[in-house]
Amino acid sequence: MAIRDILIIPDKRLRLISEPVKAVDAALRTLVDDMFATMYEAPGIGLAAIQIGVAQRVVTMDLAKKDEPPEPLVFLNPEIVWSADDTSTYEEGCLSIPEYYEEVERPAAVKVKYLDMDFKPHELDAEGLLATCLQHEIDHINGVLFIDHISKLKRAMVMKKFTKAAKKGVSPALAKDKEPSHHIG
Ligand code: NI
Repeated sequence: MAIRDILIIPDKRLRLISEPVKAVDAALRTLVDDMFATMYEAPGIGLAAIQIGVAQRVVTMDLAKKDEPPEPLVFLNPEIVWSADDTSTYEEGCLSIPEYYEEVERPAAVKVKYLDMDFKPHELDAEGLLATCLQHEIDHINGVLFIDHISKLKRAMVMKKFTKAAKKGVSPALAKDKEPSHHIG
């Protein structure tokens, strides 16, 4: 298991549309192990493979609270097959946009189709934080970031800040004291 570097905006790879996983092999198992190591270290509650530079439709997640035992979840080729009409708002953050948080409105519930590590298909009805996190991560594998859901002005400001930092060669450090739940992934 290795902790991998997390891509930070404006890295163009974050805009790639990831490729479907075709099989669970040793390389995929290593990728998933590395994603968990990287996600727990960050810390975050979700991670898409593209955030460590791998354009495959793989998402890891763990919504367990600090004092609870870990609940690692893996979603291969996740796809939203139904979204609720009613919405909910959550203050989201992203490991690829460190230390920036903004309220995002999304469907309050979704139905997600995915494959597990045995390549077995599942359907999951999600609401609350799980629904938010799944939508955030599925956005990632489609090259979409949570800042695409906020105002144009706010997005332009955050892009400018991170583009400036990237040019100077400084990567904004992650705030270790933040609750992982803020770093949706
Ligand atoms: Ni994210």
